[in-house]
Amino acid sequence: MNSEIKIELTEHSKINSVDFDNLPFGSVFSDHMFVCDFKDGQWQNPTVKPYSPITLDPSAKIFHYGQSIFEGMKAYKDADNNVMLFRPLDNCKRLNKSAERMVIPQIPEELFMAGLKKLLEIDNAWIPTNDGSSLYIRPFMFASGNGFHASPANEYKLIIATAPSGAYFAGKVKVLIEEKYARAANGGVGFAKAGGNYAAQFYPTQLAIEKGYNQVIWTDDNTHEYIEEAGAMNIFVRINDTLITSPTSDRILDGITRKSILQIAKDTGIDVEERKITVSEVIAAAQNGSLKEMFGAGTAAVVSPIAGFGYQNKDYDLPELEKPFAAKLKKQITDIQTNKAEDPYGWRVML
Ligand code: PLP
Ligand code: COI
Repeated sequence: MNSEIKIELTEHSKINSVDFDNLPFGSVFSDHMFVCDFKDGQWQNPTVKPYSPITLDPSAKIFHYGQSIFEGMKAYKDADNNVMLFRPLDNCKRLNKSAERMVIPQIPEELFMAGLKKLLEIDNAWIPTNDGSSLYIRPFMFASGNGFHASPANEYKLIIATAPSGAYFAGKVKVLIEEKYARAANGGVGFAKAGGNYAAQFYPTQLAIEKGYNQVIWTDDNTHEYIEEAGAMNIFVRINDTLITSPTSDRILDGITRKSILQIAKDTGIDVEERKITVSEVIAAAQNGSLKEMFGAGTAAVVSPIAGFGYQNKDYDLPELEKPFAAKLKKQITDIQTNKAEDPYGWRVML
């Protein structure tokens, strides 16, 4: 493969029209994107080009059979304008794990990183510097090859697009613990970042939103007795002084924020348990006052405290703590991400 990246620069930068002090999440896009095609059995034509619509044949298999996967990452800028990524190779490895499950070709790590770095170099001015904002990076791969035959396509595209973004959640997060619908099943694709996993969540999530919640907390598809994860983040529960999160499985995304938070928590003396959590345990803890905190962890969500949850037509509020684990852990992880603290783990990658 010729891995030299072609560059086509825009003649009309949109950057002056963007209000960097009021950034929404993921809906303002930078000037360029990285595109690479898989054709004739190899990745080719890696190009950074102006962000623009793409043309696909109506029979492209992405439309019919949903062969599509994605990642979520962020680039940060420190006070000296250094640009940093957080554990980017973990995202690339997870993209390839998702790719394997969805019969999409593996993307070489060097090509992924070279394309990403070139894109960030060209769109450097789009990386926000304000606290709480970052450049959200969305790499995705999908079947661009044609035909109604229900089989994997022979052509694919990798695109990396970016969006300067603020917080994912506007305010306090209220979640609904799901009793009926399921996001994933054993042997399925729940562990993959497959587009269809998100489409499958939309209907139950819409029902939850109509009832005043922001996200669904998924329970296991078989018994609905175990807390698994939320729509866009892994879930942590604090009972007394112990922080608990479900183990990853076929059904749960192996979150990069999740595993980083687990490591930081352990290393800073928090008692951590990676084990199954039953809904009844959480309800009992909410009733007897030992449920101190719940929060979500994810690239977009960072660390998002949960203010309350609903279950079986009843609402439960979480207490407002003076020193929540969520705030402490959020500061620790974002300080590492944004070069405000030492990174003893080697997670931060300076570009
Ligand atoms: N779970 C789901 C379903 C997600 O979409 C995400 C977001 O990427 C996460 C968990 C958190 O994963 P990460 O921390 O790698 O972003
Ligand atoms: C992320 O946190 O990067 C995600 O992919 C969640 C997303 C659905 C916004």
